[in-house]
Amino acid sequence: KKNQVLDQLHRPLRDLRISLTDRCNFRCTYCMPKEIFGDDYQFLPKDQLLSFEEIVELTKIFVELGVKKIKLTGGEPLLRKDVYKLIAMLSKIEGIHDIGLTTNGVYLKKHGPKLYEAGLRRLNISLDAIDDDTFCRLNGRDVSAKTVLANIDYAVSLGFSVKVNMVVQKGVNDHQILPMTEYFKNKGITLRFIEFMDVGNTNGWNMKDVLTKKDMFKMISSVYSIEPIDENYFGEVAKRYRHQDTGSEIGFITSVSEPFCSSCTRARISSDGKLYTCLYAHEGFNLRDFIRSGKSREEIKMAIDRIWKNRKDQYSVERTENKGMMKKNKIEMSYIGG
Ligand code: GTP
Ligand code: 5AD
Ligand code: SF4
Ligand code: SF4
Repeated sequence: KKNQVLDQLHRPLRDLRISLTDRCNFRCTYCMPKEIFGDDYQFLPKDQLLSFEEIVELTKIFVELGVKKIKLTGGEPLLRKDVYKLIAMLSKIEGIHDIGLTTNGVYLKKHGPKLYEAGLRRLNISLDAIDDDTFCRLNGRDVSAKTVLANIDYAVSLGFSVKVNMVVQKGVNDHQILPMTEYFKNKGITLRFIEFMDVGNTNGWNMKDVLTKKDMFKMISSVYSIEPIDENYFGEVAKRYRHQDTGSEIGFITSVSEPFCSSCTRARISSDGKLYTCLYAHEGFNLRDFIRSGKSREEIKMAIDRIWKNRKDQYSVERTENKGMMKKNKIEMSYIGG
C-alpha cells in the first residue's frame, strides 16, 4: 500500500495512543502509588500539554502515515477539560476507523452523554476487583466498586460498546478473577485480564507477582466452558475467548508470558507531546516543540516517518529472552498512557 511506513521489523504504523493528561483521580498501587504521587508531586503544567488543535494537527499527519485507530488515555483522560470537544474534532478526520478511550470510569456519569454525542462509541473501563476491600485498597482513593459498576451500566445504556480491563496481581486480586468472570459473563460485557507488567519504575514489579494467562485460563476453564475466537484484526492486543453458554467474551493481555511485539503497530504520544515507539522506551521525540517552533507539516511528517522506519522496539520479547531482567529508567504508565 502506498502510505504504509514499515519499521525495521516490518511492522506498519496503524494505531496511535494519545495521552491527554498525566493526572489521575486514582492512586492505583501498581501505577501511581501514593507514596510517590503525593500532594507535592509535580504534574505537568497546562502549557506543556498538547492543545486539542495540536493533537488534531498531529493526528492528521499520523493518518497520512497509515494510522487508522486512535486510543485516548491518561492518566485519567476524563480529567482533561472538555474531552468531548476533542472527540468531535477527531471524529471529523477522514481515514480514522476507530476511536476508543480507556478510563477508570468514575467521571462517566458526568461526561458520558457528551462523549457519545461527540461521536465516541468505545470505552475500555478499568476495574481490578468487585469486592470493595480489594478495590479500595488497589485504587488508593477509597472509591467503591459499586460506583464503577453503576457507571459501566450507565455507559452501556447510553449505547457505548464497553470492555472491562482487570490488571491481575498474584496474591492481590487473583481471588477476584472468578467473581469478575461470573458478573460480566451475565452482563454480556467483555472482560479482559491483563498480566501485571513491569512498566515504570515505581510499582515494584517482580515476575513472581505475575499470574500468567496459562494460570488464569486454568482457573477460569475449570468452572466455565470457553472457546477461542479468531483475532479481529492484525496486531490485536487481547487473545479472545467466548463463553459457550451466554456468548459473552473474555480476553487475555499477555504482555509478559506471550509478548505480542512482533505485531505491534502502536505509536504513543505523551500528554506533553513526545512520541514514543514503545511502552517501555527510554526517551521520546519532542513533537510539541517541533510544531511550536513553526516546522511545516511536511517536516513533521518526515520526522515521524523517519522515526517509525528506524523503529526496532520489542521490549517484551527482550525481557523474556533476558529471563525477566528489566531495564532501568522507564517512563511511567500514567505519563505515557499504557
Ligand atoms: P482495544 O482497542 O479495545 O483493543 O484496546 P487495547 O487493549 O489496545 O487498549 P487498552 O487501553 O484497553 O489497554 C489494555 C492493556 O493493554 C493495558 O494494560 C495496556 O498497557 C496494554 N497494552 C496496550 N498496547 C500495548 C502494547 O503495545 N504493549 C504492551 N506491552 N502493552 C500494551
Ligand atoms: N500492568 C498492566 N496493566 C497496567 N495498567 C496500568 N498499569 C499497569 C501495569 N503495571 C492498565 C490500567 C488500564 C490500562 C490502560 O493499563 O489498569 O486498564
Ligand atoms: Fe489512574 Fe489508570 Fe493509573 Fe489507576 S491505572 S492510577 S486509574 S491511570
Ligand atoms: Fe509494542 Fe513495546 Fe509493547 Fe512490544 S513492549 S508490544 S514493542 S509497545
